[in-house]
Order: sequence, then structure tokens, then C-alpha cells
Amino acid sequence: MKILGIETSCDETAVSLIEADGDLPAGRQVLDANFSFTVLGDTVLSQTEVHAQYGGVYPNLAKREHARNLVPILINTLTQAGELAPSNGPIISQETLGHMRELLEREPELFVHLANFLATYQKPRIDALAVTAGPGLEPALWVGINFARALSLAWDLPIVAVNHMEGHVIISSLRDGSLDALQFPALALLISGGHTELDLMRDWLAYEQIGATRDDAIGEAFDKTARLLGLPYPGGPALSKLAAEARTQNLPEPDEYHFTRPMLDSGDLDFSFSGLKTAVRVAINGQELTNEQKKQIARSFEDTVADVLVAKVRTALEAHGARTLVVGGGVSANSHIRTKLQELIEQDFSDTTLLLPPADLATDNALMIALAGYFHAKRGEFAEAATMRAAGNLSIAQ
Ligand code: KG4
Ligand code: ZN
Repeated sequence: MKILGIETSCDETAVSLIEADGDLPAGRQVLDANFSFTVLGDTVLSQTEVHAQYGGVYPNLAKREHARNLVPILINTLTQAGELAPSNGPIISQETLGHMRELLEREPELFVHLANFLATYQKPRIDALAVTAGPGLEPALWVGINFARALSLAWDLPIVAVNHMEGHVIISSLRDGSLDALQFPALALLISGGHTELDLMRDWLAYEQIGATRDDAIGEAFDKTARLLGLPYPGGPALSKLAAEARTQNLPEPDEYHFTRPMLDSGDLDFSFSGLKTAVRVAINGQELTNEQKKQIARSFEDTVADVLVAKVRTALEAHGARTLVVGGGVSANSHIRTKLQELIEQDFSDTTLLLPPADLATDNALMIALAGYFHAKRGEFAEAATMRAAGNLSIAQ
């Protein structure tokens, strides 16, 4: 099956085409195991530079950029896949074009791009579309959804509505292209710009939430703290770089930069990061920071969040006897957090397998959407294109 994934939930515009075969390796509803896939084309365009000047993601700006970039990104992905062939005659009726225009009423620029594209190129060999339906920024999600609906009309293809967080779980569950390494029960730690949660997986595509942040997500805490340190958006990677410098230079750790580890004694698996951001602000106390101080604060912040993640994961692994820990979401690109989780597993959970995504696939991409979409397509779980909606708060848990 060839499946085209579309991702526009936040500030990455991405389109990926995969060819996949087989099914999930264990669990219910296995139709035909021996899952394998090939990436035929994959494009991710980050809007970082557009948002950097505002210090954060502006939903309406994100929406505009997605509308502007989706068709060029689709063309790029299809070119990589060798699926862009000149049209040999009109394939879209005036009536269909009229429906598409209505669908893309709020994205007129995207409609023009798409109509030109469809008049220029043949229908590629694709069996289904997969698009992120949520969670994410609703104005941004809508662009991808309406784009998928218009393509579905033009090419007569079914659509899978994909949960973005499930995309993170699936892509992180891969090891050397196989899903065999994941054993149940598995614990999923999802750490991104919008989420911090622990889910118990007793089977594929089934999640029970056992812990979550009560306020800020961890990526949000990284980004806000980075802003307090005067770092450009997106702050997570920039803050992490400073923290790494503090460690290699072995800078001293002043007491005033030691932050309380939030929620360690909460008696549950929940998180809270908004107090930590405040603690950083108090520590800075309106002063002009030296580079050295910035590095020290960055390291203390990172140590604090890593300690909390490790403590909660430890409790969850002990409580549920998980055989696999799978970590997903943009913050799983963080090398300090990766190292701390690796140490935890090596030292105290040697029977548990740790699955971390390659750093370049930790952040948002459409490959993960195509992959997650594939398994639902395999189960015949298609969306009703006419009534599909963006779901900003869509949960992964049942
Ligand atoms: O999964 P993702 O790309 O988008 C969402 O679904 O939210 O995650 C983005 C988040 C941002 O908050 C970004 O600052 C953070 O992941 N991030 C990092 C690193 N790389 C990305 N945070 C800490 N260290 C990193 N290396
Ligand atoms: Zn994400």
C-alpha cells in the first residue's frame, strides 16, 4: 500500500510518501505480520525562521505558511518518489474543482496552487491519504485536513485521520525499520511542545494515560526558559546547547541556581513545569546575565527536568512491569534526557528495552503520520471526509 502522509499540526509543514507491507508484529487484529516499509519521498519544512521574530508560534501565521508551502512540498516529495508525471489531459471535472474551491474557501492561495498542480500532473500511484487531525493548533490543523479532503476528491482516495501523538509513538517504536523490538506491556513517555504524558500500552494502537502534566508541557518549559535566557525561538535546542557547554567546561553549580524538582512527592505520575519556569525567573531576578550564568542556569534547568522524568519513569516502570520504554516527541531529541533515560534502563531495568527515536525523527515530520495512518488504513479505519474536523485537544488515550 502506498500512503501519503500530511502533517501541519504546528510549525512544520511536511509530506511523506511510503510504501508499506504487512502488519503490526503482535497484539490483536494481526492480519499479516512482517511489517516492512520504504520511504519513497519525505519533505519537512520548518517555519522556525518565520516565528523566531515573534519568539513563539503564531497560529494564524503557521496557517498561512502551511497554505503557501503545501503544494511545493507535495511536489518535492512526489519528485523524490518518481511519482510526478505530466498530465495527458484534464482529469478533474469542473464540478470537482467547484467542490474543492468550497473546501478551500479559507485557503484561496492553496486552492490556486492545487488547481494548477492538478492540471499539470497525473494522479500519482497512491492508495490512501493520512493527515494529522489533532492534537495541535486548530488553524494549522485545518489547512492539512482541507488539503487532504481536496486531494481525496480529486484523486478519489480514502483518508485516515491520524493522531499526531500516535505518529510519535510509532516512529519511536521502530528499530532498524522493524517494530519487533517493542514488547507489551510497554510504557510510552511522550514529551513535546504540547505534551508531557505517560501512557501504558497493552497492545498496539491502544493507550491508557497514567500520568500527564498539570500545566506546561516540557517542551513549552524549555522554550519559555530559553526565552528568559534571551535565546531565540525555538528555545529547546538552544538551551540544551548551553547546558552541554556548562557540562564540558565543568562550570561550578551556584546554590541559587539549584531548582526544586517539581512533583517528586506527588504520589502519582503527573508532572508540573510552570513553577520551574517561575523559579528560573526568580533566580535571574531581572539581572543582565553573563554567558557563564546562562550556561549554568540552562544546565540546572535541564538537570531538573531530566531528574523529574527519570523519577516518574522509574515509578511507572516499577508499577506496571513494562517490558519496553518508548520515548517520543520533539524533546526526545534532547541528548541529556536521552543519556539519563539510558542510564536508568541500563542500571536498574536491564530487562526493559529502551526505544528512542533517531534525533532527526524525534521532531515533527510526516513520515510518522504516514506510518501511523498505514496501520489504520490496513484496518479499514477511514475518516468520513465530509465531516472530518480538526481536534486541537485530541487525546491518544481511550
Ligand atoms: O514534537 P515536536 O516537534 O512538536 C510538537 O508536537 O510539539 O516538539 C517540539 C518541542 C519544542 O518545544 C522544542 O523546543 C522541543 O520540542 N525540542 C527540544 C529539543 N529539540 C526540540 N527540547 C529540548 N532539547 C532539544 N534538543
Ligand atoms: Zn510533535
